[in-house]
Amino acid sequence: MNFTETPAYALLKKHEIFLSDATISSLFSENPDRFREFSCSVGDIIFDYSKNLIDRKVRSYLIKMAEQIGLKSKIFDMFDGVKINFTESRAVLHTALRDSEAQSIKENGRNIIPVVRDTFDDLFRFAESVRSGTYLGMSKRRILDVVNIGIGGSHLGPMMVVEALRPYKTPLINFHFVSNVDGTDIKDTLKKLEPETTLFIVASKTFTTGETMTNAATARTWIVSKLGEGAVERHFAAVTSDVKLAAGFGIAKERIFSFGDYIGGRFSMWGPVGLPAMIAVGERHFKSFLGGAYLADEHFKKTDFKDNIPVLMALVSVYNCNFLGIESEAVLPYDHYLRLFPAYLQQLAMESNGKSVDSDGRRVGYRTSPVVFGGEGTDVQHSFCQLIHQGSHKILCDFIVPVFSHNETGDHHIKLLANAIAQSEALMCGKSEEAVLAELKSIKTPADKIMKQLPFKTFDGNRPSNTFLIKKITPETLGTLAALYEHKTFVQGVLWDINSFDQMGVELGKQLAGKILGDFKGTKKGEYDSSTAGLMDIVKELRKI
Ligand code: F6P
Repeated sequence: MNFTETPAYALLKKHEIFLSDATISSLFSENPDRFREFSCSVGDIIFDYSKNLIDRKVRSYLIKMAEQIGLKSKIFDMFDGVKINFTESRAVLHTALRDSEAQSIKENGRNIIPVVRDTFDDLFRFAESVRSGTYLGMSKRRILDVVNIGIGGSHLGPMMVVEALRPYKTPLINFHFVSNVDGTDIKDTLKKLEPETTLFIVASKTFTTGETMTNAATARTWIVSKLGEGAVERHFAAVTSDVKLAAGFGIAKERIFSFGDYIGGRFSMWGPVGLPAMIAVGERHFKSFLGGAYLADEHFKKTDFKDNIPVLMALVSVYNCNFLGIESEAVLPYDHYLRLFPAYLQQLAMESNGKSVDSDGRRVGYRTSPVVFGGEGTDVQHSFCQLIHQGSHKILCDFIVPVFSHNETGDHHIKLLANAIAQSEALMCGKSEEAVLAELKSIKTPADKIMKQLPFKTFDGNRPSNTFLIKKITPETLGTLAALYEHKTFVQGVLWDINSFDQMGVELGKQLAGKILGDFKGTKKGEYDSSTAGLMDIVKELRKI
């Protein structure tokens, strides 16, 4: 069953027509209490969704829609280890990594909690030895540089966390993240490093991903050429589901940290894939990060849908996307340390919900994941925000705004806050012709110029946004925020009746790249369309292959 098959969907459709005369601003005029009624909180995070074209009735129908689709029991299915990743027949249990109270969570009838606890003990012990300098490289020098080699979920999540928690990071170790098969990525990184003091973490759930294996092989050659074959063992660690393959690479057994199939790549930063973050901020802060996520998990499981932030995030998104035709979402953190958050969310949202086939294998007749993009404020105000304010299509914005900065400097942060809040006000209120006229007259603009400038200077407004007002970015609040978005993604998948936990879309490109590579290397001959063949011929000619 998908959301369009619920009775509430039909009611929403009717009410939508009734709402078509309203604007977001008019909803505020009608209800002075709107901000209080359309915002809720968890921990130190307030979620304000009042600047959306959603009134009490729409909200109650949306909530009914979630109830009628059986969301409550689907939430418990996920936490209880039911194989909700139905195309791969896997449970989805990243939440087990942050539940420090649990005695038993079963996957395939087996309690995974003892293994999870043992793995964390090993991870924290290793992370601490690297942080404290007791872990030594081949030539008995401490580790000063950690290089994470991974891609997708084995890259974006840990990189985002290390950057977001930079104020909590040890100053003694530098962190680097290599992902792209473009040789510039690893070559530029290696230039900055000394082999004696470098530790590589090869992060790959499958330990077969082409980019990661290519980069890992280059890093291995570099270490071997400088320190000899024996150094691989001390200068590499691995996080993976495939211990055998990692051991085959030459990584010592005690430095291979494994995790089960029930942890999906883009949901994996909470466990072994979070190793760079564990080294960066230490056990205490990493546990707070997990604790923040656990707070979101408990909130998601136990809070009424009307105050349940991830449920509301998903419903607001689906309403904008599937009812109002607003099919793009911008994530705009007003915090320099959070500038990698949009890239992390892009994978979370679009790799999870960029699907067109429902649970019965039928093509869906509605839009699924919006296009997600973003960047840090205020920088983006001077780039793509022009389109968000005056462009021909509307975009739902998420403003992520910490009230306090880790770097309070003069009036910088209060200016940043003023800008963030002003953006959502501007999007909603716009600027009417009357306001533009009055403004131009007040600066004595000649009448003919006023009429010429008028259409360009007006803003329609009525553009939706959510604001996450966060006391400060700490390990806890970061954990809560990321987990809220994870659960939003899951709820959207339930409403759209798609599998949010596989990623088959990446396969075709991989297969065809393999075929073309075979052709370039002269090991295979393939059939191609004339554009593909033409491009390949030029490459062969220029590279003389
Ligand atoms: O892009 C496909 C994907 O499988 C992602 O889901 C995953 O995060 C990434 O590749 C890396 O995979 P692995 O951790 O197995 O190297």
